[in-house]
Amino acid sequence: MQHRVGVEALALAVPHRFLDLEDLARARGIDPAKFTQGLGAKQMAVPDPGEDAPALAATAAKRALAASGIDVSRIGMVIVGTETGVDHSKAVASYVQGMLKLPRTVRTFDTQHACYGATAALHTAAQWIASGASHGKAALVVGADLARYGLKTVGEPTQGGGAVAMVVSDSPDLLELDFGVSGVDSLDVHDFWRPVGRREALVDGHYSIRCYLDALTASYTDWKQQALSRELVRKGDTLVSEQLARIAYHVPFCKMARKAHAQLRRVDLQERRGGKAWDEQAEAEEAPKLAASFETQVAPTLPISARVGNAYTASLYLGIASMLNLQAPSLVGKRVGLFSYGSGCTSEFFSAVVADKAVARIAAANIEDILAARERIDVEEYERLMGLASDAPLPTAPAPGTFRLEKIQEGRRIYAAG
Ligand code: COA
Repeated sequence: MQHRVGVEALALAVPHRFLDLEDLARARGIDPAKFTQGLGAKQMAVPDPGEDAPALAATAAKRALAASGIDVSRIGMVIVGTETGVDHSKAVASYVQGMLKLPRTVRTFDTQHACYGATAALHTAAQWIASGASHGKAALVVGADLARYGLKTVGEPTQGGGAVAMVVSDSPDLLELDFGVSGVDSLDVHDFWRPVGRREALVDGHYSIRCYLDALTASYTDWKQQALSRELVRKGDTLVSEQLARIAYHVPFCKMARKAHAQLRRVDLQERRGGKAWDEQAEAEEAPKLAASFETQVAPTLPISARVGNAYTASLYLGIASMLNLQAPSLVGKRVGLFSYGSGCTSEFFSAVVADKAVARIAAANIEDILAARERIDVEEYERLMGLASDAPLPTAPAPGTFRLEKIQEGRRIYAAG
């Protein structure tokens, strides 16, 4: 059965300070090219304790509601995907409900599986709507996270943070999901984890890249079979992956998208070679085609992540925002591929079609203004902010239209609205 469901509007929120990664590289005695070319990053967001996951989630959600123009009485579900929640019990979604003064007639909860949480939330919302149980109501789905590895760690240049909020409904004005066509792959591994009580993540970085690529291979192969049988794509002269106008990957650092895209094409090419081993000649023939395909299909999904860094659950959705912000007019009616990966690990490859109101909807998100309003800080200030206790927010007034954690009283978090 076909269902029309997807993203009606989308908006983002980011910490108001950022660090240039060339400054960080110089301070650490590392060649800046390692960060800019080797990892593909330019800047990373630096949150202060007032910019926690609930504050960023609520700010993004407020903007998404404004971008959609939806009456809040039509929101029937709020799901926040996050791995940097603030309470073992109280959901970030509950804080969002409070800050946005949403009606009591909403179901609120969080979803967690590392960077995959927002994708779990998106599909949960889509299935609720498609089932008819929503009775015409819409869901507010948010991915909000702060990526923190710590000073002078191997993961330091891949930190960052931000939130993306989406209104998900049966009027997918921005992006219509290929509902029910979804490839998944999961495996119990320790590539990245953060035991309860730890502020910094633990990561086996190079292993996590291998886990990501294996997961991509399996979930893309699963999606491809379903997409072929539903005739969303066809076998022929054009590779199946090339039939997707753009592909947004989860990007813990931008270079990961390049590795992912090479792997995705390899899956298609290996199938075409009928099991013949991948050799130097195949690699040499593929190199220029991969470079061209990357520039067209993937590069437009990366500019926001290159400026914000890793935002865990929000990362894939920053990719969608980037691509539409840059190119929505030429993408209307076209199918895009989406890959979500959560360490631990679980993953999903799915697809969607850019809808006819995408141009107006993405313009309403004011992405350039939000990024341009940020303040560049030096390494000394970054290190000072990293040294602050998470429960000691700065006495800074929130910027207009944003929320900040103001204080914590007996574990109760109090937020201020600007
Ligand atoms: N100029 C240009 N490129 C350079 C360079 C230089 N001077 N020095 C190194 N590089 C390149 C390397 O060749 C490598 O590129 P490649 O991956 O294409 O081979 C890249 O920069 C990274 O160098 P590497 O030595 O592998 O970095 P690292 O050991 O410091 O670790 C991560 C990189 C990503 C593993 C690490 O930052 C990390 O653990 N991040 C957190 C986990 C994560 O994001 N995982 C992803 C999956 S969820």
